[in-house]
Amino acid sequence: MARSALLNVMVQAAFKAGKSLARDFGEVQNLQVSLKGPGDYVSQADRKAEKLIREELLKARPTYGFLGEESEEIIGTDGAHRWIVDPLDGTTNFLHGIPHFAISIALERQGEIVAAVVMNPATDELFTAERGGGAFLNDRRLRVAARKNLSDAVIGTGTPHLGVANHGTYLVELRHVMGEVAGVRRMGAASLDLAYVAAGRFDGFWERGLLPWDIAAGILLIREAGGWVADIDGGNKPMDDGSIVAGNEYIRKALHEVLHRPVPGK
Ligand code: IPD
Ligand code: CA
Ligand code: CA
Ligand code: CA
Repeated sequence: MARSALLNVMVQAAFKAGKSLARDFGEVQNLQVSLKGPGDYVSQADRKAEKLIREELLKARPTYGFLGEESEEIIGTDGAHRWIVDPLDGTTNFLHGIPHFAISIALERQGEIVAAVVMNPATDELFTAERGGGAFLNDRRLRVAARKNLSDAVIGTGTPHLGVANHGTYLVELRHVMGEVAGVRRMGAASLDLAYVAAGRFDGFWERGLLPWDIAAGILLIREAGGWVADIDGGNKPMDDGSIVAGNEYIRKALHEVLHRPVPGK
């Protein structure tokens, strides 16, 4: 599997941040933690990882824009390219010592995601994709799962937490999905959830209330693994809308239908 120079830059940045996160994960009880809002934590580890990634990416491509969760956006002079970065996706898992978190780095060109890296430093799993070049887990080419029926499917999701407004809508959706599928999983890192769909581990996934850095890389991973991604209304704007429904063509469609099933008596 040959990686482009740009993808190599992204992988190097992820490795650097990964080393830093792995060190901090070893002494998580000593980290300074603050709240951005109810249930929304950020730590020194998030900020340090973002700084490392930002320096590495901007050193390699100084004219590109940069959108990261933990620092101010840079509008690039080049106008066409933008990095979209979540330096630590799954902060809550990280702070609780749960080894399921990731670094997510995407490159956008003229509004399209063209390269993606999602890496879990706790398991050494590196997911990569380039537009038209396929998706990979380490050196293995990925393909979404082939299951066609929801009754056989394991579906990932993201449950809202304290401070998030959509609990009611979510519970209705969850009730409908639970009644149709073989299993529902809530792992706690959206970028890895999407990488798991690309790898065929999850048959499908849905969540609302996400931000571009949670999903930019995962969207390309899924498309390059032969899967389908839409927003919750079936449109092509998950990054703008912050909602996502994903799977192979059968599961995405079936999941979309279940999520939009009318509520009896309404
Ligand atoms: C969160 C995770 C989580 C999702 C939240 C995100 P963060 O990202 O991806 O799975 O449910 O909506 O905010 O804050 O840990 O980077
Ligand atoms: Ca966060
Ligand atoms: Ca995130
Ligand atoms: Ca984050």
